[in-house]
Amino acid sequence: MKFETPAGTNPIDQLKVVGKPTDRIDGKFKTTGTAPYAYERHDVAPNQAYGYIVGSAIAKGRISSMNVADAKAAPGVLAIVSTLDHKPLPLGQQNTASLFGGAEIQHYHQAIAMAVAETFEQARAAANLIRVDYARGNGKYDLEALAPTAPLEGGGSGEGSGAPPIDRVGDFDGAFASAPVKLDQQYTTPGHSHSMMEPFATIAAWDGPKLTVWTSNQMIAWAKRDVAKTLSLSPENVRVDSPYIGGGFGGKLAIRADVPLAALGARAAGRPVKVAMQRPLIANNTTHRPATIQRIRLGATRDGKITAIAHESTSGNLPEGKPETAVAQTKLLYAGANRMTLMKLAVMDLPEGNAMRAPGEAPGLMALEMAMDEMAEKLGMDPVDFRIVNDTQVDPEKPQRPFSQRQLIQCLREGADRFGWSRRNAKPASVREGRYLIGMGMAAAFRNNQLTKSAARVRLDGRGIVTVETDMTDIGTGSYTIIAQTAAEMMGVALDKVVVKLGDSDFPAAAGSGGQWGANNSTAGVYAACIKLREQVGQRLGMTGDLQFTDGEVRAGGRSAKIADAARNGPLTAEDFIEYGDLAKKYQQSTFAGHFVEVAVDSFTGQTRIRRMLAVCAAGRILNPKSARSQVIGGMTMGAGAALMEELAVDKRFGFFVNHDLATYEVPVHADIPHQEVVFLDEVDPISSPMKAKGVGELGICGVGAAVANAIYNATGVRVRNYPITLDKHL
Ligand code: MOS
Repeated sequence: MKFETPAGTNPIDQLKVVGKPTDRIDGKFKTTGTAPYAYERHDVAPNQAYGYIVGSAIAKGRISSMNVADAKAAPGVLAIVSTLDHKPLPLGQQNTASLFGGAEIQHYHQAIAMAVAETFEQARAAANLIRVDYARGNGKYDLEALAPTAPLEGGGSGEGSGAPPIDRVGDFDGAFASAPVKLDQQYTTPGHSHSMMEPFATIAAWDGPKLTVWTSNQMIAWAKRDVAKTLSLSPENVRVDSPYIGGGFGGKLAIRADVPLAALGARAAGRPVKVAMQRPLIANNTTHRPATIQRIRLGATRDGKITAIAHESTSGNLPEGKPETAVAQTKLLYAGANRMTLMKLAVMDLPEGNAMRAPGEAPGLMALEMAMDEMAEKLGMDPVDFRIVNDTQVDPEKPQRPFSQRQLIQCLREGADRFGWSRRNAKPASVREGRYLIGMGMAAAFRNNQLTKSAARVRLDGRGIVTVETDMTDIGTGSYTIIAQTAAEMMGVALDKVVVKLGDSDFPAAAGSGGQWGANNSTAGVYAACIKLREQVGQRLGMTGDLQFTDGEVRAGGRSAKIADAARNGPLTAEDFIEYGDLAKKYQQSTFAGHFVEVAVDSFTGQTRIRRMLAVCAAGRILNPKSARSQVIGGMTMGAGAALMEELAVDKRFGFFVNHDLATYEVPVHADIPHQEVVFLDEVDPISSPMKAKGVGELGICGVGAAVANAIYNATGVRVRNYPITLDKHL
């Protein structure tokens, strides 16, 4: 079905099931350990052997020799898979460096071997017997040193945003030069690790030419395509299955080395092989959010109207990699006639940079929204008012293109109201409680709502059970639940009459989980399939006209029948997809929020404690307020981590991330996160899809880091522009 805008009244608008704070269907399975993750699929293939991965001990250079004799002879060993026995595997479309094969090393911990054995312990012991000699090359690992000569580069990590390297509107240089009030500052963000709870893990089994991988992946259709490409198989011989995923955050948008290694190991051992990438390999073997160096220039009139806005971002990546699109939101968030954004890419030999939750906006807003706070202070304006004055209802680069909905001002006003913003003392370092300096900060949040084709299949059986099949994933976000709510609403059945099956590449290809596009698009695909199923039900029952599907019945013109009756003589199945044509060209679709944060900074130790956080969000119809809230508080928590602690520490001599496990890559724990409140504005967006919803999965992390930073400034009077804001930086 092609989506026609604006969406008229449709069955979703009944809101009998959709829009309710339903508990997550998968919640009890996950919390009781009965949801099998990839590594735990003991039942899917008999006689599973274990793989243990060896990562390169150098970041750049060549393997000069590898001795696997001792490993091969070790107890229980079935096979040793060596990179020297394989040509570099072709790159998957989502990969930057080859996942395996060849003597050349492109980054630290790149996979170079795997031991396959009867038990995990035997595989690990054998892997430790593999002797490798390297010829170390000279790599480039220092972004700061490379930044001044880094060339312009477009594109964008992960989601392939296709952004141009440089964008100009009007005359930025002239307008900035003549602006009465201006700001020119540099901000830096470090690399971030997804550090999801469930590691990358795969079980692979061959059946002749057919390969099945049970893995942990956000994008099943991409994974299937890239498994086929990487292993030179035809796609119809590949099946990918990933029904439960223990977090992804963008790290699992792509297949990683565990997938081809499990497949190669299974082929070598002649039986199924399971591999969980060891935790200490993940930070360097897989992807991370690249570090950025950002320069922001703002020029404004004395009454606070922005006349010139420029944002430049430099990030690093491997030669095939893309820059972090940290300037993305600056194209769209504020008005201003004269604009310039550009991205530079330093080619480096650190591990592969790629998408992490809100790629682009998350680090971009950490800079932009701190700059906005600094500019408000220069103007002597309240930071909320400064943002409101510079609101725009159209794409500032293409004024003929309106936002489908944009309630940023409402988010900021309501947030200020609820938070007690009027009690903030604008003069920094002026509020004290004993040894603590108290501050409040705020920031705007912005994240795009992306439209993407999404398909589903629905079946009605004689018991009145509606089964939904789609390769959509649930990465802990609530996909199972909102898809069930959608099907229940559309077919007029109770939620417990709906069965949702996800994550299997044999099902119709959905939007997948990424870029906060999953919820709106995947449910819209289910909507489309249900519209077809409703037609079939009507035909079977011989009912025409305006059919009502409600309470397990179909009603029309005074007649009613049980919906199950339509499938009495055999199940009905319908499949369809949603697509949007060039809708994204006509309207800018984005989500918005206002973040408000209160901190207490210990005046003796410099330690920052967050006291309160509030987000007021505008993101279209909220399909399930409970799972949506969970997404936003998760994002806020990640943003607090980005502001205060998260940092991949680079060893600039040897080219690797030093803190490559969960003990040393610091993320917030419960004690770091006090009161969090999330408010959703009552919004429906009839331009976004028949669901009238948008994404919320990444909105929560956007802007929140800057709100924390701005609160610290308000508390202390010390402006730290290099994240994370650890205590040593503002003492
Ligand atoms: Mo997201 S970083 O596209 O999973």
